[in-house]
Amino acid sequence: MSSPNVISSSFIQQKFQHFSLGILCKVIAISGLILLLLYTLFFDQTDTQASQLFRSFQLQWPASSPNDTTTDPPTNINHIGFIVISSLKSWKYRRPYVESWWRPNVTRGHLFLDKEPTQEFLPWTATSPPFVVNEDVTKLRIYPHIVSDVQVRMFRSILDMYRVGDEGLRWFIMCDDDSIFMVDNLVEVLRKYDHTKYQYIGSNSECVKSNSDFSFDMGFGGAGYALSYPLAQAMATKLVDGCIERYNYLWASDQIAQSCLADVGVHLTIEKGIHQIDLHGDISGLLSSHPPSPFLTLHHLELVDPIFPSMDRNQALNHLMKAAQFDQSRLLQQTICYQRESNRSFSVSWGYSAHIYDNIIPRSVLRKPLETFRPWANNWKRPYYMFNTRWMTNNPCEAPHVFFFRSIEYASRKNQFVTTYARSWPRNLPPCSASGNHSADHISEIRVFSPARTRKTAGVIECCDVEYKAEVNVTDIKIRTCMKDEVIA
Ligand SMILES: *[C@@H]1O[C@H](CO)[C@@H](O)[C@H](O)[C@H]1NC(C)=O
Ligand SMILES: *[C@@H]1O[C@H](CO)[C@@H](O)[C@H](O)[C@H]1NC(C)=O
Ligand SMILES: *[C@@H]1O[C@H](CO)[C@@H](O)[C@H](O)[C@H]1NC(C)=O
Ligand SMILES: *[C@@H]1O[C@H](CO)[C@@H](O)[C@H](O)[C@H]1NC(C)=O
Ligand SMILES: *[C@@H]1O[C@H](CO)[C@@H](O)[C@H](O)[C@H]1NC(C)=O
Repeated sequence: MSSPNVISSSFIQQKFQHFSLGILCKVIAISGLILLLLYTLFFDQTDTQASQLFRSFQLQWPASSPNDTTTDPPTNINHIGFIVISSLKSWKYRRPYVESWWRPNVTRGHLFLDKEPTQEFLPWTATSPPFVVNEDVTKLRIYPHIVSDVQVRMFRSILDMYRVGDEGLRWFIMCDDDSIFMVDNLVEVLRKYDHTKYQYIGSNSECVKSNSDFSFDMGFGGAGYALSYPLAQAMATKLVDGCIERYNYLWASDQIAQSCLADVGVHLTIEKGIHQIDLHGDISGLLSSHPPSPFLTLHHLELVDPIFPSMDRNQALNHLMKAAQFDQSRLLQQTICYQRESNRSFSVSWGYSAHIYDNIIPRSVLRKPLETFRPWANNWKRPYYMFNTRWMTNNPCEAPHVFFFRSIEYASRKNQFVTTYARSWPRNLPPCSASGNHSADHISEIRVFSPARTRKTAGVIECCDVEYKAEVNVTDIKIRTCMKDEVIA
């Protein structure tokens, strides 16, 4: 409640303050001028004092540590330790996922289990990561107060991994057993970061709601996140159990990790090739418009449709891996080009899909995923996603002819990889009349030629040229380096 009295008195006070402030300002300004005059008269010969004064206000750069000029060899696969979190129950079904990317005697790390493997898992196969049974969390003092012992066990895998004592590691990678990794790309991406500093590298969920529920600053661990070794060491030797005590009320291990890391001032660095896949249904739209970052991981494989139509999940995964074995740097990288004489647009997601549009559609549109998928949770308003999407449509000027990856071979004569994409179903739409009725219905196959000599530079897109072979109804697309300032339109 405020009486008129109070208002008027504070109003008067304000007026008075303005009045006195005005006088004060003038006084300061005038004395400042006089001081400046005196200063120029008496001190102008030597400016040392002034510059010393100036210097004392300048922020200093931190002393650079002698290790900044590190002569360490670049990070390679031996420097990466995977912490694959599993359980006896899930391992039964998820082993094919892990074995699709795990390289026995090459990739390092362990599979973390809740219990000693029973007879049915023994002898342990050499094609799987060696297992470690997590320490029993029921022995912890905090145990009666934690809300999820499963999640605490998962989080404590950092500690259990550290205790194994593998030497020479620069990175710990946390992930679930229903994720796949592109190991070569992971090496390339981690090379960008200084492993001697604290680093926490991961990604958000695709869904606004998931990030909003947990945190936009959280690395979703199913898809995987990386901790530099010094940070993992600090976690293991100083932080883990204290964080469990402080955050005993949190029910997701990634949230405990994120809170714990925040307490030592560590923030998430986002890498866009890490895919949590908090989605349902057909994710081909997403995989056909990947951002220009190396493709790193794919999670929740059993919660979405098989990524290739007419295959089961494991077949589809192994099919993608066929392309990955040749060139991970280009896998899922989107290359767009146009055929002006027939008003067609082409979009290739290398090793996965190729789309033809009977119209010229700008790159800025084609790089948005087609919304073939559904969000994790439906009880949320749009926008669902952390990125723009395109609606599915039956408009013949906007709907693509869809081709999926069929095969790959090495053409030694030109030192190229040739990936072939086959039409998966007839589009069953009339031609786009606005662009001249040039339907691509008769094109049955697309061949994409890409360099086999060099990996694609991460973060830099490539360009392409189109050539239609009428006699065989095949379209050839040649991927090449873009010219300087090339306009792709
Ligand atoms: C530099 O590296 C050496 C060896 O790795 C280490 O012992 C030393 O503490 C490091 N110095 C700084 C300032 O980080
Ligand atoms: C891994 O190395 C061990 C010992 O060097 C060898 O016995 C084993 O056959 C190797 N496993 C594979 C799958 O190459
Ligand atoms: C391409 O489309 C434009 C309209 O966007 C049209 O004017 C032009 O005639 C078309 N070109 C051909 C070769 O059909
Ligand atoms: C495309 O075909 C439709 C129907 O066949 C026709 O009406 C239209 O004029 C054609 N457009 C062009 C640009 O040829
Ligand atoms: C190419 O497509 C046209 C139109 O569908 C068809 O008539 C022709 O037989 C095809 N040619 C080959 C070699 O498949």
